[in-house]
Amino acid sequence: MITIETIPELRALLDGERAAGRRIGFVPTMGYLHDGHVSLMARSVADNDVTVASVFVNPLQFGAGEDLGAYPRDLPRDAALAAAAGVDVLFTPTVEEMYPFGPVLTTVSVGGLSARMEGASRPTHFAGVATVVAKLFAIVGASRAYFGEKDFQQLAVVRRMAADLSFPVDVVGCPIIREDDGLAMSSRNVYLTPDERRAATVLHRALRAGAEAVAEGVRSGDAVAAVMGSLIRAEPLAELDYAEVVDPVSLEPRAHLEGEVRLLVAAKLGAPRLLDNLGVTC
Ligand code: PAJ
Repeated sequence: MITIETIPELRALLDGERAAGRRIGFVPTMGYLHDGHVSLMARSVADNDVTVASVFVNPLQFGAGEDLGAYPRDLPRDAALAAAAGVDVLFTPTVEEMYPFGPVLTTVSVGGLSARMEGASRPTHFAGVATVVAKLFAIVGASRAYFGEKDFQQLAVVRRMAADLSFPVDVVGCPIIREDDGLAMSSRNVYLTPDERRAATVLHRALRAGAEAVAEGVRSGDAVAAVMGSLIRAEPLAELDYAEVVDPVSLEPRAHLEGEVRLLVAAKLGAPRLLDNLGVTC
């Protein structure tokens, strides 16, 4: 695996790969890699000739007072995990490399899809994500890019951004990788105290209870959301942010449940805010 820090060096290398007819797969990350990230890398390695992964903690997607400074980082460990997953090129730009003119004047924002759920708590977050992902797509020139369903709203925002702006890249969604007790893997899980870590399984338990209600025939979106919300509210260490039942493409709340729906929850467990979601077919 080669590690590259600058855009011109990466472009020169990948121009050569494309000229030789090789297909490039791309996995953007903010590092502090875990098995969730590794699963995206393994999928890209299986699907493409060359896999590029990036590690870049993107300041643009953190709001004032969020955890940008404290975001966990360990580049040597990330490089070892990426190499073991079969990644060919690790792109690790500095903030100056990505944003050489200081604050960006050009941003990408995906209306509608960005407004609710994560967007309601973090109003500038998805514009920061869409802007950096658009830049990375333009830099890497991949045929396919891999994103986790773990961040389901982010996946919908990125898909729509790529479609609206005609980026020549297939956005591939990949399943959520979980710990043995059901907690979705996340770089932010390292912030949890042992008690919070135990309580954090309530997100997954709430989603399963919601799915069970659907399986038992409940067809009101509000009723399923209430089942999930009340379970999370009953956990003293969790502070519910939202419990929602939405259309998997528009992300609009679904009143009557029919066909494919997505259950999404978010809650604070101490300092960290954790997300989880589950697909259900009615
Ligand atoms: P990060 O949180 O590092 O996640 C990178 C990718 O890994 C995302 O596509 C995310 O959905 C996926 N991922 C995280 N946990 C996962 C899990 N448990 N199972 C499966 N996939 C998982 O998401 C970001 O970084 C950034 O917003 C980024 C897209 C890189 C833009 O800065």
